[in-house]
Amino acid sequence: MSNNDLTNVILAAGKGTRLKSSLAKVLHRAGGRTLVEHIVRACGPLKGRETVVVVGHQAEQVAAIVEPLEAVTVLQHPQNGTGHAMLVAKRSLGRAKLAVVLPGDAPLVRAETLKALITAHRNGNAAATILSAVLADPSGYGRVVRKSETAVSAIVEESQLTDEQREINEINSAIYCFTLEKLWPALAHVKPNNKHRELYLTDAIAVLSAKGETVLAQVAADSREVLGCNTRADLADVDRVFREWKRNALMDAGVTIQLPETVLIDPDVTVGEDTIIEPTVQLLGKTKIGARCTIRTGSVLTDAVLGDEVTVEAHCVVAESRLDDGVIIGPFARLRPNNHLKAGARIGNFVELKKSTIGEGAKAMHLSYLGDAKIGTKSNIGAGTITCNYDGFHKYPTSIGNKVFIGSDTALVAPVHVGDGAYIAAGSTITENVPADGLGIARGRQVNKPGWAAKKRRELSALEKPKSVAKRSKRKPRRASKKGKR
Ligand code: UD1
Ligand code: MG
Repeated sequence: MSNNDLTNVILAAGKGTRLKSSLAKVLHRAGGRTLVEHIVRACGPLKGRETVVVVGHQAEQVAAIVEPLEAVTVLQHPQNGTGHAMLVAKRSLGRAKLAVVLPGDAPLVRAETLKALITAHRNGNAAATILSAVLADPSGYGRVVRKSETAVSAIVEESQLTDEQREINEINSAIYCFTLEKLWPALAHVKPNNKHRELYLTDAIAVLSAKGETVLAQVAADSREVLGCNTRADLADVDRVFREWKRNALMDAGVTIQLPETVLIDPDVTVGEDTIIEPTVQLLGKTKIGARCTIRTGSVLTDAVLGDEVTVEAHCVVAESRLDDGVIIGPFARLRPNNHLKAGARIGNFVELKKSTIGEGAKAMHLSYLGDAKIGTKSNIGAGTITCNYDGFHKYPTSIGNKVFIGSDTALVAPVHVGDGAYIAAGSTITENVPADGLGIARGRQVNKPGWAAKKRRELSALEKPKSVAKRSKRKPRRASKKGKR
């Protein structure tokens, strides 16, 4: 389908009063993206001349999102309604003959649905074609008033409905295709006849219909696609639909998701075949997961890249890190940004990593902090090992060679290097480099004092004696009283 006569117009200038927020409505997020970004992306495959976004509230922030997606912006100030927003966009529409107009707050619409709308508009030679939907609960939406099976006479806003019209459950999605040479004269007739004193784009429909122009309404196959976000509850509903679509797409691609309704996955996340995702997992940002991995319950992965057969045990937090094939982490591991765990590495419970490389098959299984560290192949980091990488001013690196054994409770004061095959004795505070195959030991020497404990106990019990005397003297009066009774 060639659409070089068509421009997309997204109306995104409104504040969104009903959200009760300091953030403009279209900057709110659902399904892992801002509302406006979803809509700009849905327009991309239409291959129109361009996408024009009408901005107003927090215009700069909205522009910062849409301009990298190759949309252009036009400023509407003040915001005098959707009809006014369209008039503001007029000067940016160039030689376009048709416009697909979309609100900035109905982010679930899919490109296929928009293509079908354009086709219906062209085939029907219409002045306007409305994307409508039939909803069980149409409250809050403008209603589509039809004059025949095929033709529309008006859109009536919720606040202006008659009792009879209130029964109509076909709603206006606020997504339309317009033939612009017909729209502009109709819009010129629209008056701000409503309590907000705004120019409603919806009122142009009645003007077109009264002029005898063809106005069609195409009912969306999936009514969820037109859900608008005017309230926090709407945002939650829309988010739920996006998340469900994403999980379904992954399940169709061979991913197992247990209790899927508890799992949150962002749109750009990819997951390989036969990976198992347990309940309450969150996969966020640009996370990429290979095949046959297991992501156990409660784990949150953001911008993580996992190879194949990786296991993330329960309740791990992973950010901006790479885990190669066969890595196992957790439970309760925390990977802050910029780690690289090479094939077969293992990170256990209560281990925190930051900007560290863990070599192939290396292990740090218990209660450690490894920051700015490079750990070689098959090295073993004992429980409680800490890299002291920060002196209050700067960060310093720790490098540990291959097949190194770091004893438990070691403090590695960076910058420091431990050579290949070296041992570090448990409880050491290592401040100097340790040569390859050497032993580093840095702790107080142990002194054993034979008999010391026994002697100590004797001394202490001698101090206790006066108390036991006191106890006996307490019992005496009781005996005396028994004697007295006799
Ligand atoms: C609108 C429709 C309603 C439809 C519903 C579907 C109108 C008058 N009503 O109502 O028939 O059922 O969408 O979700 O159009 N905007 C601007 N400039 C303005 C005013 C609004 O750019 O001056 C933008 C808003 O940012 C928003 C969009 O237009 O993205 C729609 O505005 P909104 O206030 O959400 O309209 P609704 O009351 O939802
Ligand atoms: Mg709305």
